[in-house]
Amino acid sequence: MLNIVKVSSDEQFNEVGAGLVAGLLQSNPRAILGLATGSTPVGVYSQLIELFQKGLISFAQTRSFNLDEYIGLAPDHPESYRRFMNEKLFNHIDIDMRNTHVPDGTAADPEQAALEYTRMLDEAGQIDLQLLGIGHNGHIGFNEPADELQAHTHVVELKKDTRAANARFFNSVDEVPTHAMTMGIGSILKSRQILLMAKGASKADILKRALTGPLTTQCPASLLQTHPNVVILVDQAAGGRLS
Ligand code: F6R
Repeated sequence: MLNIVKVSSDEQFNEVGAGLVAGLLQSNPRAILGLATGSTPVGVYSQLIELFQKGLISFAQTRSFNLDEYIGLAPDHPESYRRFMNEKLFNHIDIDMRNTHVPDGTAADPEQAALEYTRMLDEAGQIDLQLLGIGHNGHIGFNEPADELQAHTHVVELKKDTRAANARFFNSVDEVPTHAMTMGIGSILKSRQILLMAKGASKADILKRALTGPLTTQCPASLLQTHPNVVILVDQAAGGRLS
């Protein structure tokens, strides 16, 4: 079931997003979080840091699994997703770094590293709350539109439009890695609850297509329609085509 929450300010967006995570941690301090990078969740992470600093939540017993990482970027590379997570969240809260997992972008054998990530996810059992953004082409994680989608963590070649969209973080589009490692659609859909977040008018069309259009591997986010518990958090612009 899809529950749409449309908010009217950034502040509300961050409060609702962080509120969902905080509520979960308060009822289950050992919850397993699935985390996303990108621009959309940054304010939610800041709000979580604030709630932690006020003593309202603790991540001490929490484990986290990130969706994806660029192949070839070391953990300390300014644009690696590991560094993003450390700087935007982990360094400011009480999570045990050993309990934070981000796919290894510099593994000598990425296919093997992907298998290992899947093994760790399987061992963890089930992600309690998976945070997601959505790409303009309907990708979730880095599961790009394709004729076939993968269930488990795997290496993926990034689409031209995804590299172009993410070029804003690099000096030029040529510096954006060509490949990434991403959790598969099966792992994402296995989560107990999913929070899909989107902001801005540029996401309005793809959200409409993903949430109300046909299920298709050409729009990976459309598969979220099959999940029993998805919260869609949007601002007025992103939610402009949703009723
Ligand atoms: C990030 C991720 C991506 C982004 C998506 C939207 O870990 O998996 O799917 O969520 O590309 O990115 P933003 O939020 O920058 O628009």
